[in-house]
Amino acid sequence: MDAVHPRVLGYLGRALSLELTAVQQYMTQASLAETWGDSEAAARFRRETVEEMRHAEQIVQRMLAVGVAPAASQLRPVAQAPDLAGLLRRDLDLEDDLVNLYAEASRFCRLVGDCVQETLFNQLLQEEQHHGEELAGWLKELGRLERSRDDERASF
Ligand SMILES: [Fe+2]
Ligand SMILES: [Fe+2]
Repeated sequence: MDAVHPRVLGYLGRALSLELTAVQQYMTQASLAETWGDSEAAARFRRETVEEMRHAEQIVQRMLAVGVAPAASQLRPVAQAPDLAGLLRRDLDLEDDLVNLYAEASRFCRLVGDCVQETLFNQLLQEEQHHGEELAGWLKELGRLERSRDDERASF
């Protein structure tokens, strides 16, 4: 096994911290949505939680494969917001951070010729971009619902 560049190990460590931050955030939001009586949103957040958990697992497996002990540090506190749209905006920020991290990590791996790690970071990059698009779509949908409710109210 070729030695993995220390900076690549650093990206793996940051990725694990950020993916576990996402697990904690979506898990909390699922419970929060449940207390708001919004079981549909709760189910969506639960699906996100599972996807982020799978990402964390992939990172752990990769760390074991390259011979380092997974040790996530500094989980960020769950972002707060008073309503669903606010939560989704915070989630978009987090997904953006993941996208930026994976874009940088994958660029660096290409630079040092580490194809194995580059492939993993690229796959994760695409999945986080997809999450971001889904969340943005959900936020738009919420805005439309809100506007049609306002229109209904205005017509009375
Ligand atoms: Fe993820
Ligand atoms: Fe994500």
